[in-house]
Amino acid sequence: MPKAQIHYFSATGNSRLAAEAIVEGLHKADWLVSLKDIRNTNIKEETENLAVSDIIGFVFPIYAFRAAIPMEQHILSLPPSPTPKPVFFIATYAGYLDRSFMRLRDFILPKNYIPIITTTLVCEDAWTVVRFPGWIYDKGRPCKADLEKLRDFATNEIPKAVQKNRESPEPAISWVPFNPITALAATFPIAVHKGTQFPIFVKKSLCTRCGICVRQCPTGRLKLTPYPTANGNCVGCYGCINSCPLDAINTWFTYGNVRFRGPALRNEKL
Ligand SMILES: Cc1cc2nc3c(=O)[nH]c(=O)nc-3n(C[C@H](O)[C@H](O)[C@H](O)COP(=O)(O)O)c2cc1C
Ligand code: SF4
Ligand code: SF4
Repeated sequence: MPKAQIHYFSATGNSRLAAEAIVEGLHKADWLVSLKDIRNTNIKEETENLAVSDIIGFVFPIYAFRAAIPMEQHILSLPPSPTPKPVFFIATYAGYLDRSFMRLRDFILPKNYIPIITTTLVCEDAWTVVRFPGWIYDKGRPCKADLEKLRDFATNEIPKAVQKNRESPEPAISWVPFNPITALAATFPIAVHKGTQFPIFVKKSLCTRCGICVRQCPTGRLKLTPYPTANGNCVGCYGCINSCPLDAINTWFTYGNVRFRGPALRNEKL
């Protein structure tokens, strides 16, 4: 039975939904699949599992025209593969990918991992404000039909790509031209990662100190002290801001009380 390992990162649940759809689709094609949240995965302990997998999948959101920083770091920390290892990338996003896949390809190819297939899933924009104040893009995405398409992609396209790669191994991601505007925007997550604290503000009069935002934070750096405070290494994912039921937590870039509440944050099964 062919084996796949899927590694995902998700702050507000869209990429987790996508990763679960891929698992379901591969199960339908009789693959053995293991699903790993990179937040709880020590890549060094996975070396043997990576070696026996027929393909490794990476599922993640795009933040400021790049794969989310935790996923870029995870990919950079992969041990070199002794034999050429097929991988795939799946990005959940609002439609602006820029050079995200190309960057990952350049990180991973020298370690002997070959990206053989990619796809994207359009989702509501978890970064609700910067593009157009007060407007949530792609409302209602992902919907059932989008996830069904992704399941079909896993059932049909991934096994085909693995087969094709056996016959003629070739990376599937091509070169994307440099765009100075998006390159500038992409410095934003680097700045926050390098320790410039992402400016999180809490309205104490609204906050009940329930801890929902703290549990949502993928970095573990948001702490109740006694109100939520982001303490360095914030990756600017908006997980805390979008998950607070009382809209008590905010940042400079959030406009009014517009929040993203995707299916995962609403606990909806699609
Ligand atoms: C800080 C931030 C930056 C974002 N930047 C982009 C972007 O550059 N391009 C894009 O298409 N979507 C962008 N998005 C939208 C997310 O990629 C999208 O909502 C994604 O599905 C969130 O995934 P998650 O729920 O797994 O965390 C951004 C979201 C956030 C919070
Ligand atoms: S989720 Fe909202 S109310 Fe709860 S601790 Fe965080 S900011 Fe306060
Ligand atoms: S503090 Fe908020 S925005 Fe920063 S990483 Fe944690 S959840 Fe994401």
